[in-house]
Amino acid sequence: MKFFVDTADISDIKALAASGLLDGVTTNPSLIARSGRRILEVVAEICEVVQGPVSAEVAATEYSQMLREAAVLTSIAPNVAVKLPLTPDGLRACRALSEQGVMTNVTLCFSAAQALLAAKAGATFVSPFVGRLDDIGQDGMQLIADIVQIYRNYDALQTEVLVASVRHPIHVIEAAKLGAHVATVPPAVLRALYHHPLTDKGLAAFLADWAQTGQQIIETVAV
Ligand code: E4P
Repeated sequence: MKFFVDTADISDIKALAASGLLDGVTTNPSLIARSGRRILEVVAEICEVVQGPVSAEVAATEYSQMLREAAVLTSIAPNVAVKLPLTPDGLRACRALSEQGVMTNVTLCFSAAQALLAAKAGATFVSPFVGRLDDIGQDGMQLIADIVQIYRNYDALQTEVLVASVRHPIHVIEAAKLGAHVATVPPAVLRALYHHPLTDKGLAAFLADWAQTGQQIIETVAV
């Protein structure tokens, strides 16, 4: 499973990229607003740090203007994936961009029917929002199961399922068990994946026992 980080905060992205475990980045208009920076500048900086897909979302809602904005966004770097809303105009733009070989991420997906349309439009990624479905009392992870099952039925559907609106590590694990291709995860949730109290307790015990031996693996060389 690929891990993308869902943020436009460049310091978080740099720190997570240094882990060697980061495969891409997703942004959206809310995350760009939160960064307080200009979209073209921040996306360019992210693309210098991360080699994998970096999603940057159009703000237009009309087809022709979406394509004009997509041209600006893709001129930033070759690894920009154009994020498009799951609307008739968004899917029309997705079809046109996929025919040009441009990476696309169809966002705001809340149903299997929408995901089927995104795949037929040639989307590189579809982003079902599990957390926002859970928030309104629906089962976000059941949507992932449904989309994965549908896509597996048809070799022609090559769209990757990018699990979005992730709220906690269990979302990541459940999505991985279902075979989703990608999870885009907030920085705090990515960091939480490392933690287990028995790891901390076990390491503390090992270090205490090691200190008792008085040994060093790298011996100090006397001069
Ligand atoms: C990712 O592409 C989405 O924009 C993001 O995961 C939305 O998450 P939220 O529901 O926490 O805003």
